[in-house]
Parts: sequence; C-alpha cells; structure tokens
Amino acid sequence: MFAKLFLELTEFAFFRRLVWRPVYEMLARVLPLSEWQFMNYGYAPFPDEAPLELETADELHRYPLQLYHYLASRTGVQGKDMLEVGSGRGGGANYIARALRPAKIVGMDLAGNAVKFARKTFQQPNLEYVQGNAEALPFADSSFDVVINVESCHAYGSVPNFLREVWRVLRPGGILVIADMRGVPGLDLLRQQLQDSGMTLQEETDITQNVLAAIEAEDPIKKDRIRRLAPGWMKGAFEEFAGVKHSAVHRDLESRDLIYYRWKLQKSALPE
Ligand SMILES: C[S@@+](CC[C@H](N)C(=O)[O-])C[C@H]1O[C@@H](n2cnc3c(N)ncnc32)[C@H](O)[C@@H]1O
Repeated sequence: MFAKLFLELTEFAFFRRLVWRPVYEMLARVLPLSEWQFMNYGYAPFPDEAPLELETADELHRYPLQLYHYLASRTGVQGKDMLEVGSGRGGGANYIARALRPAKIVGMDLAGNAVKFARKTFQQPNLEYVQGNAEALPFADSSFDVVINVESCHAYGSVPNFLREVWRVLRPGGILVIADMRGVPGLDLLRQQLQDSGMTLQEETDITQNVLAAIEAEDPIKKDRIRRLAPGWMKGAFEEFAGVKHSAVHRDLESRDLIYYRWKLQKSALPE
C-alpha cells in the first residue's frame, strides 16, 4: 500500500520533478560501489522461456539483468542504434552493448552522479553515457532505431513530453520498449498516454508475477549486499528502496495494488 501511495502522491508533476532527482543523485554519491550496477526489481522468466546463460561475473546480477535481456531480446537490437532513457548506474546498457551487440547504445540519465559512476565503471566501444532529461532529449531528430526505458518513467514530470521526445528521436519504424509499474488509476492513465503518443502499441504484457518471483529469488543477494555495504543508519531505507521480500513494493505487487507491465510501441515507418 505504501509504495502505491507514494506513486500516487507523486501524481503531481512538480512533486515528481522535485523528489526523484535528489534521491538518485544521492544514491550514486553515497554508494559509488562497482558491485551495485542496477536499480530495478528484476525479472524471472516464464516457465516456457529458456534459462539465460550468463558469464560467471554476471551471476550476481542475474535478475535485474534478465529484465534487460527479456525486454531487448524481443526487439532485435543487433546492429541498431539504441538509446536507454533513465539508464541509472549503467549496468543494463553495458549488458546490452556486450551481449546483444547493437551498433551503439547511449545510456542517458538525469542524475549526473549516476552518469559519472556508469562512465567510470563500464567502457565498451559501442557504449556511451550522457546526462540528460527524458522530457527534453539532447539528441537530433531521427537518430535512434530503438529506445528502452526501464522503471524510470514513473519519475517524469510529464510522460506525454517524454513520449513526444521519443517519437522525435526515433527513426521511422523505430521501437520504444517500456517496463514500469503503476497502481490501477496510474495504469489507465499511462495506457491512454501510450495510445495518444502517435506510436502504435504493439505488445502489452503483465509481468507482475515475473517481477515478484525475481524479488523473492534475489532477496538473499540484496540483503547480503545491504548488510555489507550500506551505512548502518540507512540499512532499513535501503531494504525498502531495493525492494526486499516483505518490503512495501513486494507487498503491493503481491496484492496487485501495483501492477508491472512491459509495453512495445512502434513509430510509423511512413514519413510524417
Ligand atoms: C529506478 S532507476 C532505474 C535505473 C535503470 N533503468 C535500471 O533498471 O537499473 C530510475 C532512473 O530514472 C532516472 N530518471 C528519473 N527522472 C528522469 C528524467 N526526467 N530523465 C532521465 N532520467 C530520469 C533516475 O535518475 C534513475 O536513475
């Protein structure tokens, strides 16, 4: 209930713009630890999905990384120009650059400290990180084939501004993939915003159960990391933020006060 309430409190654009940026700036400043590379709740595959083969070093990040794999591998990103809006600490863009081989991927985030962390931690020839705002993307028109957006758009002052900007930077036929959660009223609003975006809504999948299963499976890893690395007085807050078992977000996903979705949209291939 708490997580849902917080998301609904942040219904007001000015409040969202005010509240989220300092949180993510602070997190990247207080915890510049290379072991902490993701900030999403993760994904556990459907029973009919093949298990993801990972390099040993990636095992520690299996669940958040599987979310990126699930989203990007359904889009066909090899050889494409990609943008991640809200790339956080950079682990997702780094994984995609290495494992799914786009021509390039740019990870963009509002939090300058997170961008600095990502640049320092990950280097690959087809990967770069820049600071920027989802509501005013610092890129030319028609510069990307695929835009990915993971657990980030709930924080934006205006989702319609974000969708307008994505439409502008996508090439004709380009794809937008979004994963995020909402309470029921927020979900209705987001669906309407997606429908009004000028892009065609191609796929919509409820992955609440997959995210819940990931939260449960990753619980010991998160708790161990927080126990070892978070400052003592912040451990409780970190457990809530990281979404351990029995945290507010875990309870709200379980009761379906929060619902987690994946959407895939396509910009028309015809010139406007
Ligand atoms: C929950 S984190 C997810 C990070 C990353 N996608 C991941 O899965 O690890 C949300 C991210 O969205 C970023 N963000 C929030 N508002 C933004 C905005 N207006 N423009 C760009 N990034 C934003 C935050 O700074 C934060 O890094």
